[in-house]
Amino acid sequence: MKDNLAYAGTEDPSDTPDTDSTLALLQAEFLLDLKQGLARQRKSISPKYFYDATGSALFDQICTLPEYYPTRTELAILQKHAREIALHLGPHAEILEFGAGSMHKVRMLLDAMDRPARYIPIDISGDHLNAAALKMADAYPNLEVEPLVADYTQDVVLPPDMPPQGRRVGFFPGSTLGNFEPLDALRFMRMCARTLQGGALILGADLVKSPDLLHAAYNDAQGVTADFNRNVLVRANRELGANFQLDQFAHSAFYNAPFQRIEMHLMSTCEQVVRVGGTSFAFAQGETLHTENSYKFTVDGLRQLAQRAGFTPGQVWTDPDNKFCLFWLDAPTPRSHE
Ligand code: AVJ
Repeated sequence: MKDNLAYAGTEDPSDTPDTDSTLALLQAEFLLDLKQGLARQRKSISPKYFYDATGSALFDQICTLPEYYPTRTELAILQKHAREIALHLGPHAEILEFGAGSMHKVRMLLDAMDRPARYIPIDISGDHLNAAALKMADAYPNLEVEPLVADYTQDVVLPPDMPPQGRRVGFFPGSTLGNFEPLDALRFMRMCARTLQGGALILGADLVKSPDLLHAAYNDAQGVTADFNRNVLVRANRELGANFQLDQFAHSAFYNAPFQRIEMHLMSTCEQVVRVGGTSFAFAQGETLHTENSYKFTVDGLRQLAQRAGFTPGQVWTDPDNKFCLFWLDAPTPRSHE
């Protein structure tokens, strides 16, 4: 693990996670990552920095776009198979959601489940998380809702120190796994398998498909994805006092077939110099800041990945066009002695 902020754990739940000191730490980390990323031969920044309040709202808007099929498709799969998935979950189960966002999808599960005991949404965006968690607690009075602000891309996320009554099941929808580099995806899945021992993981993943469909999903006609992409610059300007000229960075998203991933970049439309935290960074015309990889998967590839991470792959649910899939992955308890 990289050295990092560890929020996960047993903090006083009455404490709001986005205290001033947490914010200061997050901004310091953003500054460091951005300066490091801009100093590279190939400039890059982690997509996790998209998600401040504005970025989270823009992403919610992306999910409703006609071109962005993943959300709609995954919701349809969830809706169609909710009862069957709920049977896998069993009574009194608890759900740990990684990257909880707006918490729409989990409702499909909760509505079909037999007396769900607890819901632990985990997200990096504290304000968005807490607002959504309050709504959930309102909508599900018998559900214990315990939001956890954590960077699950870095930390081992420890669920609160309370034994679950039923099964503890992780929920990682939306194909967010695709944001990880392959080795990091494996590392993350291993962390999940350990955290969820005796339970399972429900994993949603976007499948390899026609480049045209993929391209359209990341180049919507309204330009919402472009705004989402540029939001990382807006954020750097506001939070770090950077001076990115927004109209001099073009949204660029394309499918890199050999790597099986969508790449998003911000392309400098002219030769320019940007200042971030007292340091200057030169951009040539056409040079890009790589902002996101969104890997696409095959069912077989996912099954192998899950097995290597220590899961026992179970059922797969897909849509009729095989655009997206949901995987049930059992997390076995390791036997102590052979
Ligand atoms: C949240 C990572 C699943 O990769 O499709 C949407 C983010 N980026 N449009 C994705 C995203 C551009 C999304 N994930």
